[in-house]
Amino acid sequence: MKYYIKTFGCQMNFNDSERIRGILQTLGYEQAEDWQEADIILINTCTIREKPDQKVYSHLGEYRKIKEKNPKAIIGVCGCLAQRMGEELLKKAPDVDLMFSSFNMHQLPELINQVQAGYKAIAILENPPEDEDKLWEYPLVRDNQYCAYVTVMKGCDKNCTYCVVPSTRGRQRSRSLESILKEVKALVDDGVKEIHLLGQNVTAWGQDLGIPFEELLYQVASVEGVERIRFTTGHPKDLTESIAKAMGEIPQVCEHLHLPFQAGSNRILKLMDRGYTKEEYLEKIDMLRHYVKGITFSTDVIVGFPTETEEDFEETLDVLRKVKFEQVFSFKFSPRPGTPASTMHGQVPDEVKTERMSRLIELQKSILSQIAKSYEGTVQEVLFEDYKDGILIGRTRTNRWVSVVGPEELLGKTALVKVTASKPYSMEGVLV
Ligand code: 5AD
Ligand code: SF4
Repeated sequence: MKYYIKTFGCQMNFNDSERIRGILQTLGYEQAEDWQEADIILINTCTIREKPDQKVYSHLGEYRKIKEKNPKAIIGVCGCLAQRMGEELLKKAPDVDLMFSSFNMHQLPELINQVQAGYKAIAILENPPEDEDKLWEYPLVRDNQYCAYVTVMKGCDKNCTYCVVPSTRGRQRSRSLESILKEVKALVDDGVKEIHLLGQNVTAWGQDLGIPFEELLYQVASVEGVERIRFTTGHPKDLTESIAKAMGEIPQVCEHLHLPFQAGSNRILKLMDRGYTKEEYLEKIDMLRHYVKGITFSTDVIVGFPTETEEDFEETLDVLRKVKFEQVFSFKFSPRPGTPASTMHGQVPDEVKTERMSRLIELQKSILSQIAKSYEGTVQEVLFEDYKDGILIGRTRTNRWVSVVGPEELLGKTALVKVTASKPYSMEGVLV
């Protein structure tokens, strides 16, 4: 029996798919090369904006053809769109046999049994079940041998007015320190060097356990064999001075942080209910630069939030110019059903969003080429994650890709590299 999983969305979803692969392999399934030879096809969906929704429907249209060849094949939809749509989704995609969300991934074995017994297995729950921690008992199947994601919390308690996540992934639940450390130890034993802690709002980890997030950093760093630590996604409001201090103090924590600011205008930030001003965000950046020498940043920005004016948008560009992010993920505002922002007055026309977006991209391009140049001639610590035909590929601590000519033995190891050429999205270097 073979499975095929198609994953959309964020790193959390990718990590969920790694866990789902573990569940399926525990049941005796093997990974199929492509969907046409699968006995079960799962689409792990995202619904953060309208575009990912559409992609899911078009893939479902394609995958349903599997039943012509293999009438017993199971088609399943899981993840955030499944949670948001529930049984409604069946109206658009009647061939779907099985549905669940991130709340009840651990129930997949029972759901498969139900489908095999001839029923549709639609298990979309209103709230996370009490036994959801059973999930951690399943193994993970990962593609990257050296860098691993570890989910440390689920859900989100913030109320950003544009965002579906609180309704698709539920309230904030921190995973216990014990369970996280157990997984980290197992990963290190398996050859992993870099641990990437994941949560929709990872810096809030521990608030419901009475433990500060920095304690998690110290504890993970104390596991023998952990060489690098990253974490995503931080919220500026929860990023305290103690976290910044810990980041600077712990040698394994990499000098890079993804810290979404979403908009530069204080009026828009308020409408988004982000809980900080532009000035406060910039202060956080300064504080992080103070404690974590050489830190670089990436961010998310929403363009064309309801009522955004030209002046508001200029404030966003101003933040880009001031911080000089290494990466900016920019999105046109997409009204999501059930969110307060979707019904706000003053929706911005698509042409305006497109025009602002292209200006933002142009500006970021010029900032990035300056940043890229500044790497030339520097020496960077690189962890090599891949090797092909005499070329090693890895990432710097500041999260930039580098390739060098070198021996395969360095795969999974860190080495110093002198950067000889640096382009916006890649660098070349020589081993020092
Ligand atoms: N419209 C556009 N972008 C959005 N994001 C979240 N919700 C929306 C929306 N409704 C963006 C934010 C977030 C990233 C993951 O997706 O920038 O940080
Ligand atoms: Fe998409 Fe958000 Fe769900 Fe991640 S949590 S898959 S970004 S909707």
